[in-house]
Amino acid sequence: MRCLKCKENAVIELRQHNASYCRTHFLSYFTNRVRQNIEHRRMFAPDDRILVAVSGGKDSLALWDVLLGLGFNASGLHLHLGIGEYSNLSLEKTRHFASSRGAELIEVNLAKEYGMGVTELSSKTGRVPCSACGQSKRYLFNKVALDRGFSVLATGHNLDDEAATLLGNVLSWQTQALARQSPVLPRTRPTLVKKVKPLYTLTERETALYCLLKRIDYVEDECPNALGAKSLLFKEVLNRLEENMPGVKQSFVKLFLKRIQPLLKSEQDVDVRDCAVCGQPTTREICAFCSLWQKALSGGVAYNASSGAQIEDRRID
Ligand code: AMP
Ligand code: FES
Ligand code: ZN
Ligand code: ZN
Repeated sequence: MRCLKCKENAVIELRQHNASYCRTHFLSYFTNRVRQNIEHRRMFAPDDRILVAVSGGKDSLALWDVLLGLGFNASGLHLHLGIGEYSNLSLEKTRHFASSRGAELIEVNLAKEYGMGVTELSSKTGRVPCSACGQSKRYLFNKVALDRGFSVLATGHNLDDEAATLLGNVLSWQTQALARQSPVLPRTRPTLVKKVKPLYTLTERETALYCLLKRIDYVEDECPNALGAKSLLFKEVLNRLEENMPGVKQSFVKLFLKRIQPLLKSEQDVDVRDCAVCGQPTTREICAFCSLWQKALSGGVAYNASSGAQIEDRRID
């Protein structure tokens, strides 16, 4: 196997692109794809202040490394979620990377700042851990970015994540979720920060190799709450398809964005206002985060301030 560019020994074969690369040319291929995604989708510009949500896993650390390497002004945000040793290890790897690059890292510890971590939050509210966790993450990403004046929030979602989410949404025809599934969510109101996914065309295999070649130490384990999650099954199925049909994951996501998503514009029309408690955007009087934490802290059910009705909130990201 020879490198497409220089004919040296290749370190990876990318069947979806009909190409193999040596170390040097793989790293430049990877960086160039991220740069192209940023430019092509107008994610951000050199004068933007970017907040990268960093979990300590391979994707978000690879993303942060590429952005710093390209000269972007990128700070990290790590949420200590309080999921046992998994969270401690994630914090350690993130801190280690930040200090090795001399990059700013903002940390939010759920237990210290809000009274409990995800495990307790889930048992007190009766919510599945991943759902309580996902909601808290989305809220805090937006809040920290807003409070600290960042213009954009970047996450490490990769092609496998996007293809698996798409498959899940298609299997149950979640039209509102499909309308929102995009590598760029613009700032539609002052309290909603722009969200971007610069790695959305790169696979997990590619981000893992990037970290290996750049000697980036990351958390290899999945979150213990994700064991048995549907998203892992969807990834497995898509990988089996990819073995027989190289490029299928990429075309699944790319063609969805090109052909289907533009047809779903009307699904994006939601009535958004500011939460009566915290001021963050919501489709209800009190946002999902505030009502979830009210419920956890009071040990009871959260009620809408004026009507007394039980609160539901629609996801707007
Ligand atoms: P996940 O939802 O765990 O698949 O993670 C998707 C993306 O969310 C990651 O690539 C990160 O950018 C971000 N993320 C996940 N967990 C954390 C965390 N604990 N702190 C900061 N960002 C996170
Ligand atoms: Fe949130 Fe696993 S990372 S429950
Ligand atoms: Zn080469
Ligand atoms: Zn709120």
